Amino acid sequence: MAQLWGGRFTKETDQLVYNFNASISFDQKFFQQDIEGSIVHTIMLAKQGILTKEEKDEILKGLTGIRQDVEDGKLAITEEYEDIHSFVEANLIRRIGDVGKKLHTGRSRNDQVALDMRLYTRLEVLNTDSLLKELLQTLLSIMEEHVETYMPGFTHLQKAQPVTLAHHIGAYFEMFKRDRSRLKDIFYRMNYCPLGAGALAGTTYPLDRAYTASLLGFEGPTLNSMDSVSDRDYVIEFLSALSTIMMHLSRFCEEIIIWNSNEYRFVEIDDAYSTGSSIMPQKKNPDIAELVRGKTGRVYGALLSILTTMKGLPLAYNKDMQEDKELTFDAIDTVKGCLALFEGMIRTMKFNEDVMEKSAAMGFTNATDAADYLVGKGVPFRDAHGMIGRLVLYCIEKNCSIDELSIEELKEISPVFEEDVYQAVSLKTCVEKRLTTGAPGPEAMREVIRMHREYLSRDWQDEEDLFSGVWNEGEIEKRNRHKCFDNKEG
Ligand code: ARG
Repeated sequence: MAQLWGGRFTKETDQLVYNFNASISFDQKFFQQDIEGSIVHTIMLAKQGILTKEEKDEILKGLTGIRQDVEDGKLAITEEYEDIHSFVEANLIRRIGDVGKKLHTGRSRNDQVALDMRLYTRLEVLNTDSLLKELLQTLLSIMEEHVETYMPGFTHLQKAQPVTLAHHIGAYFEMFKRDRSRLKDIFYRMNYCPLGAGALAGTTYPLDRAYTASLLGFEGPTLNSMDSVSDRDYVIEFLSALSTIMMHLSRFCEEIIIWNSNEYRFVEIDDAYSTGSSIMPQKKNPDIAELVRGKTGRVYGALLSILTTMKGLPLAYNKDMQEDKELTFDAIDTVKGCLALFEGMIRTMKFNEDVMEKSAAMGFTNATDAADYLVGKGVPFRDAHGMIGRLVLYCIEKNCSIDELSIEELKEISPVFEEDVYQAVSLKTCVEKRLTTGAPGPEAMREVIRMHREYLSRDWQDEEDLFSGVWNEGEIEKRNRHKCFDNKEG
């Protein structure tokens, strides 16, 4: 047992208590962030004269050495340490001796873990956004190809009116686009640095929290030390955004499962993204889509779990908050995996255009347009609705579609029907005439696609100065967000 706090105790911790309390098995996930935070803390302490330059250099050398050895597999993160913070500090002291004991000056594990979790979450917000962007690129390519691929649009899973594949996919484009904008909001709201809040009440050392914040790419320091160590709103917001992403993926998967069924045959999932049955040789199952749909529950679970964990906590830090990690890490990994797999599945999927079109032509998807045709001939809409209703009934008995009726049969329902009706209710006309913004008509659709292309050509992650602090004192090197902070200053 390697603990940071033995001094006050006269007895060894019970082994079961130790195991129950320890978090190293999962908080090693933010090892990089822990080192990064410690490096910056050290640089700040030296700038403030709390550490000498020599002490700073030694500590930085020790920390980067530990990082290197862990990365190279020369140093293992083992369960003999209570948590990742203890692991780093113990190894630092082992490596550089007593000066290593100065690292924790003006810091508590409470603000340390708050920082690590925030850095980790911030990075994953950006990674999730990048995966969403890739998915959007793929969806847009499919849309561009299928502006004139007709398919039935549904309400209540009953054929309603004809749309196009581009239009249907476009609905999901909007959803994932909103997901990205949620992530952007979260990024900006959470981008404040809790380090320096201490255990809960700040510290008497003259820390420069603004400097720490800017070195770590935050907008600035958080402004209340008690809130700093006990705030997990950003985790909740992120899990909520992840849950919404999963809800969108799950709905999409549900449709793909239906479209891929023997009855529909709208699509064929690529062999590489399908699985077979151990007993039924003919089977090719949409397991990936089903698993993505299934994993949605797991991500919702994480959100509900952290909300429940946080709801009764008095200020400030409470150990309950250690429970924020496992489920959050799991949810992040789950969503990232689902996004990547889903993108591959849909990119390689074959769309059976003729099956879709045939399906759109059947099932009276042109009934509204037939009623509109009568309206165009002066029949009030409510009367037209009733006439076409009777016509549909007649067609069902005859087992044919509206446009398969002869002009004489049509005239029996209403004398205003003329030869031009056939063109007016053709599938092509039904879709082409729907030209209001956001409608499936190819001209309207092309305009939306143009806007989407333009949207994807701009990227908030590249365009905006994600890591520039307003609290900057002097020039601070912009970091590559994927790399751990390198000691350029020291
Ligand atoms: N492992 C702890 C956590 O995840 C680190 C903070 C420990 N702080 C404390 N006062 N025991 O929350």
